[in-house]
Amino acid sequence: MAIKYVAEPFRIKMVEPIKILTREEREQKIKEAHYNLFYLKGKDCYIDLLTDSGTNAMSSYQWSGIMLGDEAYAGASSYYHLIDAAKDIFNYSYIQPVHQGRAAEKVLFPILIEKGQYAISNMFFDTTRAHVELAGGRCIDCVVEIAKNPSERAPFKGNMDVKHMEEIILEKGAKNIGVVVMTITNNSAGGQPVSMKNMREVSNICKKYNIPLDIDAARYAENAYFIKRDEAEYKDKSIKEIIREIFSYADTFTMSAKKDTIVNMGGMIGVKEDNSDIILKIKAACISYEGFYTYGGLNGRDLEAMAIGIYEGIDEDFLKYRIGQVEYLASRLDDANIGYQAPVGGHGVFVDATQMFPHIPYYEFPAQVLAIELYKEAGIRTCDIGSYMLGNDPDTKEQLRSEFEFTRFAIPRRVYTQAHFDIMADALIEIKKRAATIKRGYKIMWEPPILRHFQAHLEVIDY
Ligand SMILES: Cc1ncc(COP(=O)(O)O)c(C=O)c1O
Repeated sequence: MAIKYVAEPFRIKMVEPIKILTREEREQKIKEAHYNLFYLKGKDCYIDLLTDSGTNAMSSYQWSGIMLGDEAYAGASSYYHLIDAAKDIFNYSYIQPVHQGRAAEKVLFPILIEKGQYAISNMFFDTTRAHVELAGGRCIDCVVEIAKNPSERAPFKGNMDVKHMEEIILEKGAKNIGVVVMTITNNSAGGQPVSMKNMREVSNICKKYNIPLDIDAARYAENAYFIKRDEAEYKDKSIKEIIREIFSYADTFTMSAKKDTIVNMGGMIGVKEDNSDIILKIKAACISYEGFYTYGGLNGRDLEAMAIGIYEGIDEDFLKYRIGQVEYLASRLDDANIGYQAPVGGHGVFVDATQMFPHIPYYEFPAQVLAIELYKEAGIRTCDIGSYMLGNDPDTKEQLRSEFEFTRFAIPRRVYTQAHFDIMADALIEIKKRAATIKRGYKIMWEPPILRHFQAHLEVIDY
């Protein structure tokens, strides 16, 4: 039996009309889009779950803040509002606004990583990986083994494998590790959280070997909610207390604020200690790439919306509703025996496409097949987190095989209602009924050399 949906802790004051195209129209649109969902127009998607990043609905307080945004080039009051709020929550000495998460990575990573050094993470997100490599470093993923088995339920499947991490440090030599990055929640593993215990252990190892620890903090509030819910000693702590403790274990953070800070654009860098050397370098790089350090590539009104959203994103009632939405969808899938990365993480449901299409091999992209079927079935836009996204080996040019073939339902914050979630579940159930009749997957007709999934052209393989 599906669990009870947690009712919205808000009322709706403004709406954005959406229309559903007919099935014939959707089939035509996806064909014209070369079977690549990134080519679809937003208006042609009835339920758009491509990402939870920057797709959030702001509150009436945030929209009022937009009107109060101070657009001064230097020292705007909106900048100080954001700095006060971020220091209050993270307890760091220095906060640098930037325009989004990858800008934070672009500014900070070349300061931490020297050419030829390694960076270790519980799992790198694509842009984080790209910026380590652009800084001349090499990435090593080190998530716990259990994360690789979607059907095995366990708390904190986003954790770092600390034993393996220490082995890597000893094998490569501590001086050859530029930074350790803890991604919270672990997006690439299915939005899975990291426990406080794991955070503490990773921090202790970093201190032992004198390696800086950075948090990739896109979904810190969701992660804190899981710690409160699933780690017994934190059940009576506030979300803010938990966040402060998580961040106390790291030296820096890089953050996309387009997620848990509930805005459409924004990011931040944080430095815990008052380390004037790093801070000076951050300011200098920011001025070159982002703009003066008191606006960091953002409008004053964006800074104001972030200063308000940062508190709304850590509200426990909001988090209970948000995680409740994802759990509701997962429970409907349980009833229908549809597999996903279990238990569900924070920002979406990652459906196991290999379970739906066991007969479609990784090189015909089962997760992309499911994403296309969802669009045809109900106008739902999702995306492939599998072999199609992974791409080819840079040396041999052979198609790589991903650990997972997930179709990701990423849930924008405060946007969709229970009825939309029922449409998502019903669509999956319908596709499951006819899954065996979908015999083949897709072949790539054209692809760019890097990050191919955004732009590739695909075609159905004939029987
Ligand atoms: C874990 C993680 N890190 C970094 C980023 C990059 O952030 P942005 O898209 O704001 O550049 C993302 C975006 O999805 C993310 O999920």
